[in-house]
Amino acid sequence: MSVVAPPIPSDLLRISDLEASSLSALLDLAAVMKTRPHGFVEALRGDTLVCFFEKPSTRTRVSFAAAAERLGMFPLLIRPDELQLGRGETIEDTARTLSGYAQAIVVRTFSHETVERLAEAAKAPVINALTDDHHPCQALADVLTLRERFDRLEGLRVAYVGSGNNVATSLAEAGALTGMHVVVACPPGYEPSVDVEIVHDPREAVAGADAVYTDVWVSMGEEDEQEERLAALEPYRVDAALLAAARADAVFMHCLPAHRGEEVTADVIDGPQSIVWQQAENRLPTEEALLLALVSRRWEA
Ligand code: CP
Ligand code: NVA
Repeated sequence: MSVVAPPIPSDLLRISDLEASSLSALLDLAAVMKTRPHGFVEALRGDTLVCFFEKPSTRTRVSFAAAAERLGMFPLLIRPDELQLGRGETIEDTARTLSGYAQAIVVRTFSHETVERLAEAAKAPVINALTDDHHPCQALADVLTLRERFDRLEGLRVAYVGSGNNVATSLAEAGALTGMHVVVACPPGYEPSVDVEIVHDPREAVAGADAVYTDVWVSMGEEDEQEERLAALEPYRVDAALLAAARADAVFMHCLPAHRGEEVTADVIDGPQSIVWQQAENRLPTEEALLLALVSRRWEA
């Protein structure tokens, strides 16, 4: 009997670029990589990873650099102002040029269309490290963390409370692939543009939830809307009372960075139900697995 390997996409721009079997294979590989942090150092020896970030980043930049090192790749982190992009070179010409030197390109930018154009023109795989619309690498770490905690994903109820942003969209897409029931509670006008259950009452979303997830109310690039966002989202803060309305064994999740006192209170994010540090840690093995699969076109070293 021949077993068909799950397909490997040419790029990861959004979670729905993966099939359910591919996401499952990626999580399995990440779990192995987590137990063998130095077990894959020859896998992509001599290859180069180019990363450029047009928005700030702590977790994504550092975890991609570390993931590349663990695979034997050279991680080249470039500030956008160091590229000719800022002086008018096109995205397409940049993509073609970088593909001649690097085996993968990781990009954080504003418009999702930018990563689509890059991927279209690049020979090397392009990985979306966050756009205004999607944050697929975050969702990979989120589902690994939930799988570690609950030993399953199918049937979990995950309540995302707050602004229906890039993180909410990728989480919703991960729900669709894994059988998790994602429900988003947000103010009218702040819905994510993805097929997911949406409610406006946070208590309704968290009732029976295994996980309560939130993210900042003002994302990078939304600073002009700060005042109206803080006002609209005020009733959506995750505090101890809201978390208590979820299941007794529910976990609290946040992609970080967090603003204590805005979207979440300190007692919740720093409390016993919070698994935010495990989420952050899981960025590394999931990105390591993603790089290995996209560059080598295999699910094992
Ligand atoms: N969660 C996340 O992507 O964090 P950074 O913005 O620090 O990369
Ligand atoms: N929604 C946030 C996520 C940061 C990791 C933003 O886009 O700023």
